[in-house]
Amino acid sequence: MGSFSERSDVAEGGNVWAEARARRRATGLPLVDWVTTDPTRAGLFPEEDVVAFAAALSQGARAPYTPAAFGLRRAREALSEVLEVAPDRLVLLGSTSEGYSLLAKLLADVPGCVALPAPCYPLLPLLFAQEGLACKRYPLVDSGPGFVPVWPESFAQKRGADPSFLVTVSPASPTGECLDAASLAWLAQSRRPVVIDAVFEPYAAPLLPRPLGAQLDALPLASLVVVLGGLSKFAGLPQAKLAWMSLHGPASLVAEAQRRLAYLADSLLSPSGPIQHALPALLKLAPQRQMRLKQRLAENTLALEQACVAAPWLRVKHASPAGTGGWYRVIEAPAVFSHPAVPAGRSDVALALHLLDAGLELYPGELFGFDSERLLVLSALAYPAALRAHLPTLIALTDPHEPPPARSSPDDRSRTRAQQAACAR
Ligand SMILES: Cc1ncc(COP(=O)(O)O)c(C=O)c1O
Repeated sequence: MGSFSERSDVAEGGNVWAEARARRRATGLPLVDWVTTDPTRAGLFPEEDVVAFAAALSQGARAPYTPAAFGLRRAREALSEVLEVAPDRLVLLGSTSEGYSLLAKLLADVPGCVALPAPCYPLLPLLFAQEGLACKRYPLVDSGPGFVPVWPESFAQKRGADPSFLVTVSPASPTGECLDAASLAWLAQSRRPVVIDAVFEPYAAPLLPRPLGAQLDALPLASLVVVLGGLSKFAGLPQAKLAWMSLHGPASLVAEAQRRLAYLADSLLSPSGPIQHALPALLKLAPQRQMRLKQRLAENTLALEQACVAAPWLRVKHASPAGTGGWYRVIEAPAVFSHPAVPAGRSDVALALHLLDAGLELYPGELFGFDSERLLVLSALAYPAALRAHLPTLIALTDPHEPPPARSSPDDRSRTRAQQAACAR
């Protein structure tokens, strides 16, 4: 195996829930999807929205190719009006994942280290591992009304262990909390560069008073701060493959970042010409699309809250007393569950497996790195009818007063053995 790099190797197996889901799918038995956050498959947008997207793209398809390291000026000018950040401080990207990859190259040497929240979006540690960076975690702790970041005053000064930069997600995924004034003040003083993933910014509830980039520019920042966003969440268009970063902080640091990013981004030139030409039109369509997404989020959140009234052992965790952000909702359930596939395992995984056996797909909190075994995560973009129809199953199966149903068919028993084998690998 000497021909391959270590960083391209991903450990297989060990995720009991994902394997059980794959097996359930393979059986063809019904499975209600409460986890997808793909807006293109959530029945959200009517035909006229699809036609408007196609029209914007077709205009861009006629334009000549104009390579530009940071993206077409006209596209950045349109974005600048929405984000309230100067066009020169914007860089267009193929995706926020590409943004993370460029920022890893810009901000850290290899081997190196980056500070990430726990829990967080599960792709982040993998993206950084591919860049040769280890992750040092700082906690988001459950303060009761919501989750709050415990900022790392000082990470260990051991050689190679000090993170080169810090990443935060606001609104966070999956917990939904937003950076408050105190957190922004803390970040403003950080001596390390800070990356803020703000892809869910339009879905913060209550809405932020001004775009995050504009708020940052009003602060006396001590270091470089980079904000990430993209059409995937901003307009519910993951297939568009267009994202952006904005640069903030002391002028000399921003200028140096621009110089280096020009080199890095020019080696890739990822965003396609048609999508860049389409950006001004797509940004005009975004408010309407965000409204449809927000209606769905609100409708499903309400349905979940109403279900919890009938089942007081369940609780929707809000990011703050006033609201929540992002496209996931976190539900607190009793931590009393066991499952034959996780003999000495976590209660949240056991419960998620019972729910899978009953045809309901919800993530165990463990997949996002929660410490607590009481948390399940589901998408608030699920089809509302499918959500409402199956809430009684969730209520019945999480009832701590009722033992979980026994799994008795021979087929079930053999699946359990297979899962145990996968777990042991
Ligand atoms: C916090 C966060 N950032 C970024 C992304 C991905 O964005 P993109 O589609 O632009 O790569 C996701 C996707 O779910 C996410 O949850």
